[in-house]
Amino acid sequence: MAPTPSSSSASTGSGPNALDSALTSIRTSLALPTTSLNLLVQRFVTLMDQGLAEKGADMAMIPAFVTGVPDGTETGTYLALDLGGTNLRVCEVKLKGDGTFDITQEKYKVSDALKQGPVSDLMEYIAQSVDVFLTDYGSSSDQDVLNMGFTFSFPVEQTAIAKGTLIKWTKGFNCPDAPGKDVVQLLQTALDRKHIKVKVNALVNDTVGALLAHSYHSGGAFIGAIYGTGTNGAYVANVEEVKKLHFGEKGSGADANRPKKMLINTEWGGFDDDAQSRPSGTGLTITPWDNYVDRTSIRPRHHAFEKMISGMYLGEVARAIMVSLIDRLLLFSGWSSPAMDTQYGFDTALISAIQGDKTEASDAKSATRKALVGTMGIKEEHVSDLDVETVRTVCDLVALRAARLSAVPIAATIQHTKQAQEVGSEGKIKVGVDGSVVEYLPGFQDRMKAALVEMLGEKIGEKVVFGLAKDGSGVGAALCALQAVKQEREGHVIV
Ligand code: BGC
Repeated sequence: MAPTPSSSSASTGSGPNALDSALTSIRTSLALPTTSLNLLVQRFVTLMDQGLAEKGADMAMIPAFVTGVPDGTETGTYLALDLGGTNLRVCEVKLKGDGTFDITQEKYKVSDALKQGPVSDLMEYIAQSVDVFLTDYGSSSDQDVLNMGFTFSFPVEQTAIAKGTLIKWTKGFNCPDAPGKDVVQLLQTALDRKHIKVKVNALVNDTVGALLAHSYHSGGAFIGAIYGTGTNGAYVANVEEVKKLHFGEKGSGADANRPKKMLINTEWGGFDDDAQSRPSGTGLTITPWDNYVDRTSIRPRHHAFEKMISGMYLGEVARAIMVSLIDRLLLFSGWSSPAMDTQYGFDTALISAIQGDKTEASDAKSATRKALVGTMGIKEEHVSDLDVETVRTVCDLVALRAARLSAVPIAATIQHTKQAQEVGSEGKIKVGVDGSVVEYLPGFQDRMKAALVEMLGEKIGEKVVFGLAKDGSGVGAALCALQAVKQEREGHVIV
């Protein structure tokens, strides 16, 4: 197991003074005052421009080839497939035309061997799961061949609504032969091989799904954001800002069919990915604990921002800090446990439980003690009341930084698109959010909102309305499959 870092000035020592000064230094390292937030917004806007102008940027700004959002009146039955969260999910979604839908769904486990083996095995397993789903549940659609939206929540270079090559894996997936391949084609081949009558007609990122689902539910939306296993966002851009997209010559038939709007999948998890190699104070601040989490992850120096925000990593950041305190004899009298010493041994769900714990530190039945003693296996006699308070502080600081960082892309997108002016004095900016972090981390949304107001000012900050876009990857993918059929009829030409 790789050692975890303590800060360079760290020394071992005991007593409240040493602990106080260690906590003060942790607090300072993780703090994000308004000035730092504003600097990050500026950098984010610059990197948005860069990603919109050229292919291959760290923050990829990927056109999703979706040119409109639903208003809630849509109807029809579509299949949806969701890969990229904790499980693989197959769904059939019936859109009822009044902002609501019925869904039948089943989850299938994806083993680590499939996540990291040949991609043909993974696709074969997905096709098999679709087969099992259709056998178990049947379909209520009257179509001979079912249209399916494929939510594939990884960075993909999309070239059409149902075409896109994987740029790189994130979130613990790493099939080595997949990058550079068209994931729709891979899946369609696996489905065809099994003679399953399903056409993958839309490739959807979960953020695009969240945006479409929220829009369907609330009659329009501007941003879809995921704060879950990973983090990312999509928004509705004006097509002329997407400089890297090319249309036919001005005045030609192709140009006449140019859409006005285009959903952009930002891949903001890759925001400021070169922060480690630039002078400090010019972008993201990478603490020693962040560097530890990053260098021991499957893909070091990729999606560093995501590693400070998302559910896959938050527990690990907190664990790295706790282990550094243990090593300095400032926590649990220097004792640890196998779980505490194991990479990803401290699940982000424990931060949620600890954040929600309002009992006295001495309460033997508190959620914090349950997490430390019951789940993490720290011996009861090694957990003092002060330790309980220290762990609570560490979890809170990690969660607070995540919430404040999470607000940066929202503020930057609003600034970049001048959306506040666009919606006018009475208008709202609707943001659909989904994912375990935003759903279960206590106070996450309120903290994000407070940071937004700091960055945008009260007048604009108050325009932003968050709504839970539950199940964007299911209903959003179905809406995208519907949008694909519509766009094929309209014949937008984008090359
Ligand atoms: C992926 C994104 C995805 C996000 C949320 C990130 O790791 O790169 O494509 O939208 O996780 O699931």
